Amino acid sequence: MRETLEKIKAEALEALSAPSANIEDLRIKYLGKKGELTAVLRGMGKLSAEERPVIGQLANDIRAEIEAKIEQMTAERRAREIEEKLEAEKLDVTIPGDKIAQGHFHPLSLVQRQLEEIFLGMGYSIVEGPEVELDYYNFQALNIPKDHPARDTQDTFYITENILLRSQTSPVQARTMEVQKPPIKIISPGRVYRSDAVDATHSPLFHQVEGLVVDKGITMGDLKGTLEMFAKTMFGEETKIRFRPHHFPFTEPSAEVDVSCFVCGGKGCRLCKGEGWIEILGAGMVHPNVLRMCGIDPEIYSGFAFGMGVERIAMLKYRIDDMRLLYENDVRFLNQF
Ligand code: PHE
Repeated sequence: MRETLEKIKAEALEALSAPSANIEDLRIKYLGKKGELTAVLRGMGKLSAEERPVIGQLANDIRAEIEAKIEQMTAERRAREIEEKLEAEKLDVTIPGDKIAQGHFHPLSLVQRQLEEIFLGMGYSIVEGPEVELDYYNFQALNIPKDHPARDTQDTFYITENILLRSQTSPVQARTMEVQKPPIKIISPGRVYRSDAVDATHSPLFHQVEGLVVDKGITMGDLKGTLEMFAKTMFGEETKIRFRPHHFPFTEPSAEVDVSCFVCGGKGCRLCKGEGWIEILGAGMVHPNVLRMCGIDPEIYSGFAFGMGVERIAMLKYRIDDMRLLYENDVRFLNQF
């Protein structure tokens, strides 16, 4: 019986030492109610009175030893698990973080914002109008009746005979004057449409910023001063402006406005095509017919208006030679701004 006990002990201790041992299974196998040690103890009745306490003592010692081994192995295993967990979840706070890709404004938005900034600084408010517009506001209220030849230069997309995609931001002038009495001092940025084929300088959708000032005693001098201020802020302090006579049905007199070339300073270069001047906008004094149609008395009030293409300004400012680049959303292009 002593040998059996020693054998159980040796086996149990060895089994428990194996790294892959299932400790709970082994505990049941050796120490459980139906376990090997218990089986031996049950046979103790057959022993002599002298032997019984000796074997009993031995059995208890062996049980204690196995229990101690189980405890030791369990503790070791738990320690190893914690160790592994710590290793796996190790966090190195000194590793540089991943960069988060950050977006930014599109060049057209940048320029539009800069334009807004400049005119807000001069006391203008921003007014927006609908892109789907009535023929009345896009043309008729601007002194361009049906069948007027000026419509040819601004052919657009018609939804019905009287509803169209606005070809300019000027209808916002008429809409504003109808509901607001002078003094009026607004700019109106937004999308406009024309039925033009796409090429390096044309797009069926582009952007304009319109300006309108109406009050008592507004003159062409005010227009000139305003645009000069604008040009200097936009293109640099040395910039000069030049008015060339032109015709718009809704302004009289009308002008096309050039700025001195901000690359060569007026000597002539590739950007200004040797001219020294670059055309940037259309402007003029609001036509009395337009004031009258919008309910403003031209005998009391006068005003000026101007309109410019955001694409054109952006292309000049950033030396972009093909308008299509602005709409293709190629990040290699957009990342440059
Ligand atoms: N709306 C005109 C255009 O698109 C520009 C303009 C605006 C001219 C205001 C004069 C006054 O060509």
